[in-house]
Amino acid sequence: MTSTIIDRALAFRKQWAGRRFDRRLGIETNEKVGRQDLTGMSTELREHAGEYAPTNPALFRRMVRKSGIDPNSFTFIDLGCGKGRIMIAAADYPFKEIIGVEADLALSRVAEQNLRRWGEGRSDGRLKVVHTDARRFRWPKGSLFVFMYSPFSGPVFQQVAERLAAAAGQPGRAVVIAYSADWEAGALERAGCFTRVRVLVDPPDRLRCENGAGEGIRTLDPNLGKVVLYP
Ligand SMILES: C[S@@+](CC[C@H](N)C(=O)[O-])C[C@H]1O[C@@H](n2cnc3c(N)ncnc32)[C@H](O)[C@@H]1O
Repeated sequence: MTSTIIDRALAFRKQWAGRRFDRRLGIETNEKVGRQDLTGMSTELREHAGEYAPTNPALFRRMVRKSGIDPNSFTFIDLGCGKGRIMIAAADYPFKEIIGVEADLALSRVAEQNLRRWGEGRSDGRLKVVHTDARRFRWPKGSLFVFMYSPFSGPVFQQVAERLAAAAGQPGRAVVIAYSADWEAGALERAGCFTRVRVLVDPPDRLRCENGAGEGIRTLDPNLGKVVLYP
């Protein structure tokens, strides 16, 4: 009973924070889009796609902070960027580039429109939306900070995990994955060069609820030094 009330209160807080974020920036990222309505991608992809639901920007900021990375040295990629909310939140950090990858055509257009609205009066050329399946996206050079909020599952996730592992195995770059709602994290661990480190993003006793926990997965690249366990 108590937990239901707390869950509702947290869901309300997330909604409220999302609406406030949109209002402040003149964009629309808050409304969910169910999986059955992701008709701008192939049926095969839709079968394994997560619905569109946005991340709370405050949660994202905590994940970046706790990752301990220096954004100056990383390109940011949101795999399954939806309406582009987290790309815009990422623009507060000095990432080299900020790329959103989205398989659904309609959502990728909404993301572009949101970037245009947000970008009025700003000159930030680092952001771009790429409309493609994450399995086909070609990783940019250099170190990558890859954000995922439950974008896809099953064989699609498996293939992306293998491609991320291949990128991480290339010399001279680090790949750090911030994975929220990490149902498929096992595929990253099985891919061989990632290890899971817990990032507590909400009070530890809230691990059950949707955004109660995030997982950071970082490479075991010896150039990066030892694996850091997030507090
Ligand atoms: C839960 S939403 C996350 C949205 C955004 N990253 C955020 O956190 O606010 C997951 C997104 O992944 C997209 N997606 C699903 N399958 C995909 C694929 N194979 N390649 C790229 N994007 C995909 C969905 O269309 C949806 O927009």
